[in-house]
Formats: sequence, C-alpha cells, structure tokens
Amino acid sequence: MSSARVIPIAVPAAPTFSPAAPDREAVDKRGRRIRDLRISVIDRCNFRCVYCMPKTVFGREYPFLPRADLLSFEEITRIARLFVDQGVEKIRITGGEPLLRKHIETLIEQLARLPVELTLTTNGSLLPQKAQALKDAGLHRITVSLDGFDDAVFRRMNDVDFPVADVLAGIDAAAAVGLAPVKINCVVKRGTNDDQILPLARHFRGSGHILRFIEYMDVGSSNGWKMDEVLPSSDVISRIHAEFPLEAIDPNYPGEVAERWRYVDGGGEIGVISSVTQAFCSSCTRTRLSTEGKLYTCLFADQGHDLRALLRQGVGDEQIAAAIAGIWRGREDRYSEIRTAATAAARKIEMSYIGG
Ligand code: GTP
Ligand code: 5AD
Ligand code: SF4
Ligand code: SF4
Repeated sequence: MSSARVIPIAVPAAPTFSPAAPDREAVDKRGRRIRDLRISVIDRCNFRCVYCMPKTVFGREYPFLPRADLLSFEEITRIARLFVDQGVEKIRITGGEPLLRKHIETLIEQLARLPVELTLTTNGSLLPQKAQALKDAGLHRITVSLDGFDDAVFRRMNDVDFPVADVLAGIDAAAAVGLAPVKINCVVKRGTNDDQILPLARHFRGSGHILRFIEYMDVGSSNGWKMDEVLPSSDVISRIHAEFPLEAIDPNYPGEVAERWRYVDGGGEIGVISSVTQAFCSSCTRTRLSTEGKLYTCLFADQGHDLRALLRQGVGDEQIAAAIAGIWRGREDRYSEIRTAATAAARKIEMSYIGG
C-alpha cells in the first residue's frame, strides 16, 4: 500500500551518548523496551488468504510497491544493526511472502552476522526448494502459516487453489535441514476453518513441531473483520482438551505472545495467540519495518515513520539511532487493549504490507 500515511522524521542533532549503552536503551511511555524487530521484505504474496489479502481488494490492479521503493538489503541490514544497538534481540523476516523476494538468502546471510535470533514467517509454498539455502545462510528458526489440514478447506483459505500437501512437504523440508522446531500458525476464522482445529492437532501431535492457533484479528481495512468470526482461544483449548487432555505451561520468556499448553500424555506442545480476547500490549516490545522503510510501533498503526528518507538523505548512524530512540520514547500504543467497533472499522495498515 504505497498510499500509507507517513510521518516525516526531523533529523535530530548527533547524540552525545552511545545508543548502545544499556541504561540508554529507549523506554516508551508505558515502560516497554525494544526487543523484537519484524522486517517486511516484500508486500506481494502468491496466496490470497481470505483474512489477509482478499482477492476483491488485492486483484490484478492492486498498486503493489514499485521495486525502487523497496529497501535494499544493505539498507535493511544497516537499520537492523542500529536496532540491535538499541536492544533488539530477535529479528523476524516477514512479508507478504518473504521467500518471493529475490535472493532472500543474501539478506539472511547479512542479518545472521548480527547477535540476534533470526527467524522468518512464510506460507511454506517455496520451502521445498528453499529450506536448505535458508539454513545455510544462517536462519535459526522458521514459522509456517497453515490454516487447514483438509485439502479443500486449505485451498479455500489460501484462495489460489494451493494444495495442502505442498505446504506439508515444505514443513518437512524445513525440519529435515534443522530449522526445528518448526512453528505452525493457524489463523482461526469461526465458521470458515474452525473445523480444522482437531485435524491439525491430531496431525502435528508427536511431530516435534509447535502448532499455534491465532485469533482472527482486525488488522488492515480490507478483510471485513467481524467480532462474531473470532473464535476465542479458550474455545480452541477446550475443543482439543476434550480429545487430548492439555495442561498450561510457563512462557519461554516474559512477554511471549503465545500462551503455551502441553499434551498431558507427552505428545508435545501447542500454543494459542489471543490478541482479541486477552490483549498482550502491556509487554509489547515489538516494532515493525515496512518494505519501503517505514517504522511502525504497532501492528494496528495507520502511520509509519519514514526511515528510508533519512537513509537516502545520507544521514549518519548516530542521528538515525537517535531518531529511532525518539520515536520509541514517544510510543503509547496499546491497540488491542482498547479495541472497539469504531477502532476496528478505522483505516489501518494492511498486514501484508507491515508484516505479521
Ligand atoms: P516466536 O516466539 O519467536 O516464535 O514468535 P511469536 O510467538 O512472536 O510468534 P509470531 O511472530 O509467529 O507471531 C504469531 C502471530 O501473532 C502473528 O502472525 C500475529 O498474528 C500475532 N502477533 C504477533 N505479534 C503481535 C503483536 O505485536 N500484536 C498483535 N496484536 N498480534 C501479534
Ligand atoms: N488475524 C490474525 N493473524 C493474521 N495474519 C495475517 N492476517 C491475520 C489476521 N487478520 C498472520 C498469520 C500469518 C501471518 C503472516 O500473519 O498468522 O501466519
Ligand atoms: Fe500471504 Fe501470509 Fe497474507 Fe496468506 S497470510 S495472504 S500467505 S501474507
Ligand atoms: Fe503491540 Fe500494538 Fe499488538 Fe498491542 S496491538 S501487542 S501494542 S503491536
């Protein structure tokens, strides 16, 4: 969406402190630090998932970003390094579909040199060909979106008639090269794919992969989101628990988005992500860099801060770091905590543009 609203950034004076000093790490207005950078590398996708890029909106005429607007790999890596200096510990590459970005392995090689956990979210369609190259480039982990186990339901969800068997093969390929454990994300839309919860749970139990169910969210302005299409995570857990008893387990780290559960009989773990019924904004340390270099401090923002303009004006690292810190210090976002019918209907940036 090149029509996204943009906040120009005034170039700050060079800071007199080192942005790397931990006691200088930016803290936002709610006491949250920056720990997690999500980088969208492309706004295009080969799927048209009904909850993300509905065909009615993302048709042939849709104005995807022209190539010159995309950040180059060098620009992305430079910004990422500045974020690492400010405390970022995890980088997730997203899209659109990130494996459609040409030579994505080259970017991964560059980012893998930073002292962070490097992960990527994909629809899995290109994984059978690309898993080995991603691993070799230094990717640590991978998350694959999979919204159904039944082939007909899956084809309806991706809306491009893509067969489920090919994504399952992609998941196997990722695990085989050691991108494990693979996380599998299923967005649940009540009345559309909620009958897939149990088939997916049965399939992935005992596989070593971690299946997570995500509440359908009102991201963007084109998916026609309605509250009654959200299946609360508590219902997901009850349905699975009735067949395979579950018990809650502790988070891996403070502020983890997914709530973790394990099968009592040792069949592994699953997760639920409940941004609608149990918002997790109070511990949100995430920030997002769009494909064209705008910084968004919330998934539901309607405006981004134009970092690309700073890069292309030749502004130095220290000043860009100071600009990032200033943006973060001014951050108050807590969209999921204050969601109402009015905010859900408001104009927001699309998930395919800002990245999952
Ligand atoms: P790992 O712990 O590293 O595996 O990542 P994660 O648990 O953060 O999961 P992931 O990045 O795969 O996010 C899963 C899904 O959670 C996303 O696709 C979104 O649907 C949702 N999500 C992630 N971050 C946020 C957030 O900041 N706000 C909201 N509302 N939803 C989020
Ligand atoms: N609600 C919840 N999650 C979404 N995603 C995309 N759109 C939505 C939505 N409306 C997430 C999916 C997918 C990732 C790329 O973004 O988890 O796996
Ligand atoms: Fe593409 Fe992922 Fe959006 Fe589906 S959810 S349309 S695979 S970006
Ligand atoms: Fe963070 Fe915004 Fe998501 Fe809340 S809604 S968790 S502030 S990205």
